[in-house]
Amino acid sequence: MSDRNRRLVLAERPTGMVEPSTVRVEEAEMPEPGPGEALARVRFLSIDPTIRTWMDDAPGYLPPIAIDDVVRSGGVAEVVRSNTDRYSPGDLLFGMTGWQDYVIADEGERAMQSLPAGISPTVALGLFGITGMTAYFGLTDVGRMKEGDVVVVSGAAGATGSTVGQIAKIKGAGKVIGIAGGPEKCGWIAEELGFDATIDYKGEDVAKRLREEAPEGIDLYFDNVGGEILDASLAQLAMRGRVVLCGAISSYNDRGALSGPANYRSLIIRRGRMEGFIILDYVERFPEAQAEMAGWLASGQIKAAEHIVEGLERAPEALNMLFTGGNTGKVIVQV
Ligand SMILES: NC(=O)c1ccc[n+]([C@@H]2O[C@H](COP(=O)([O-])OP(=O)(O)OC[C@H]3O[C@@H](n4cnc5c(N)ncnc54)[C@H](OP(=O)(O)O)[C@@H]3O)[C@@H](O)[C@H]2O)c1
Repeated sequence: MSDRNRRLVLAERPTGMVEPSTVRVEEAEMPEPGPGEALARVRFLSIDPTIRTWMDDAPGYLPPIAIDDVVRSGGVAEVVRSNTDRYSPGDLLFGMTGWQDYVIADEGERAMQSLPAGISPTVALGLFGITGMTAYFGLTDVGRMKEGDVVVVSGAAGATGSTVGQIAKIKGAGKVIGIAGGPEKCGWIAEELGFDATIDYKGEDVAKRLREEAPEGIDLYFDNVGGEILDASLAQLAMRGRVVLCGAISSYNDRGALSGPANYRSLIIRRGRMEGFIILDYVERFPEAQAEMAGWLASGQIKAAEHIVEGLERAPEALNMLFTGGNTGKVIVQV
């Protein structure tokens, strides 16, 4: 075990994509666990678009990452030394690890959870983590998906979107339409994940294709991207259609004022509802979703699509992939 802790700290706030100057690699002393604390070696990092939003000095659902602080991130870590009965050496824990080699887990604010039995670290960060929970509760609770619904999801070959489409199929959607960038991604979600129809937003006219694929209208649009795709979906909303605002990745790299959806009047005419959510509000209900997810995983009804990037120092590159579309499925850094 090395006696140094590599830490990736926020050196300056990015104005667009994360640049080499955004994050600095530092070597610090190995943290020493105090009473009631454990030292854990970080094994995997969950790479999420929201990390980019935390780098901005802007109001959000969590405070911005301070300059010179370790970049905030979820992850899985293995306990190496412990001064508490709560954690034992060898335990795999998940929680907020940050982009670094070692993390201290305590019994209070920095407490971490044990991995559910039989669940691999990467699945814990994907289907059983924020990604899977976001897909599940966004679709079932915020979107109130019903059997027979025509469901459209953007970012459909990404971590959340690919899970949304699969859950919608399992829960009896009438038709699941995925919007993704490029023919390869569209082919993958149709052939491997069972989406009924796909739209390549980079090569096709999304508004026209939505009219073709959902001629009676969209009952539920799960929005991961915002911008023009949100607008096109609003224009094709069915009566009492629901729009779930999960994310707006098309604008996370932008500075300045954003323009709102031009087609919002569809909500009036079609008596629709558009609602945003933050998955942290559902933490107490995670076990119910995880129980269902475990059943689907065991029966092969759901697939965990993962995109593994090797090496802590590649975390910034992995984060940028989410914005260039370089990933298929959940991006995880293996430290
Ligand atoms: N509300 C919540 O609590 C919550 C929780 C977790 C995640 N989220 C949100 O969910 C969304 C997906 O997150 P994720 O972790 O699952 O990431 P992801 O979908 O695995 O990766 C992001 C994907 O977005 C697509 N994309 C990037 N820029 C785009 C653009 N300008 N227009 C259209 N598509 C674009 C890319 O795919 P293409 O190749 O198809 O472009 C990329 O693969 C994000 O908006 C995230 O912030 C929200």
